[in-house]
Amino acid sequence: MSVLYKADPVRGRIWAQVFAENAADLGFHIWPECGTPEQVEYLVAWEPPSDWSAIFPNVKVLFSSGAGVDQLDLATVPEHIQVARTVEPGIVEGVLEYVMMSVLMLHRRVPEYLRQQANAVWRGAPAVPASSCRVGVMGLGVLGQVVLQRLGVFGYDRYGWSRSRKSVDGCTTFAGEENLEPFLAGCDILICLLPLTDATRGILNKRLFAALPAGAALINAGRGAHLDESALLDALDSGNLSQAILDVTEPEPLPPLHRFWTHPRIIVTPHIAGSTRPDTAALALIDNIRRHQRGEPLHDAIDRSKGY
Ligand code: NDP
Ligand code: OXD
Repeated sequence: MSVLYKADPVRGRIWAQVFAENAADLGFHIWPECGTPEQVEYLVAWEPPSDWSAIFPNVKVLFSSGAGVDQLDLATVPEHIQVARTVEPGIVEGVLEYVMMSVLMLHRRVPEYLRQQANAVWRGAPAVPASSCRVGVMGLGVLGQVVLQRLGVFGYDRYGWSRSRKSVDGCTTFAGEENLEPFLAGCDILICLLPLTDATRGILNKRLFAALPAGAALINAGRGAHLDESALLDALDSGNLSQAILDVTEPEPLPPLHRFWTHPRIIVTPHIAGSTRPDTAALALIDNIRRHQRGEPLHDAIDRSKGY
């Protein structure tokens, strides 16, 4: 029985060390070294090798090495193989820090002051209390819920939207497509933490921007393909949106001549919000493999019919 890892090989060495120290009975291999192919029962990968289910006929679980599974071609995964995500403290803390930082920057007008600084302009705007700043999160899964809860520390007026109704203390929540516009109408700062599926591709579009209050700001830490780029540029140019902070783009990396690099109202970061942290991720994977070995339900298994 063994585990095959195929993601960043440098970080893979830390995963290997954690496995050696905490689960020496689980043989751990880093692609392209894979031991005896028939012994591989757990495959953890960002992008699995092509033809992996034929090369490794005894895989029982395919783990995405990140929180998203949109990079996997689920249609090619044989039905008997379970698919699970990696949701571990490193990713959760990273996304939380990134979103907190971004919300505070937008609420306290940091992008505007940076533009002023470039022109040696000293002009402060009146302070807006956090309680008068409405922040909305699209996607109330593991990440969206933690973010929404923690934003309460600052006293923001908080809203959330998901597919099925969720309850988050101190927040107003909405569910389903029919409640998207009422949700958007109350978001001065909109955060996208949705998974990328057929239903959410291109969801950050012209119609959505038009439903936000004038001058709203966007944080996208979901996936680049959630965003209709020309709709964003139009909304920024018309003033309908004031600012965007984008951690994810389509494609990644963003091509050198892309308009986003130089747009004065767009901040781009290179998909760093919540990178998988090898030490904590390896422990989370060991825990999940042990659950599987005991016949218990896996943590963060995905529902293939929903695509997340
Ligand atoms: P979860 O699967 O735990 O939650 C997804 C949430 O989105 C759920 O609330 C779900 O609704 C909601 N949702 C899905 N489809 C729809 C839809 N069509 N309409 C409305 N709501 C919908 O995901 P996580 O919170 O763990 O992660 C979310 C995403 O964040 C990942 O898929 C990934 O793309 C991104 N991510 C980005 C990182 C970065 O570094 N930028 C790092 C990690 C993740 P319901 O509750 O009803 O199921
Ligand atoms: C992830 C990511 O899905 O890093 O984990 O985006």
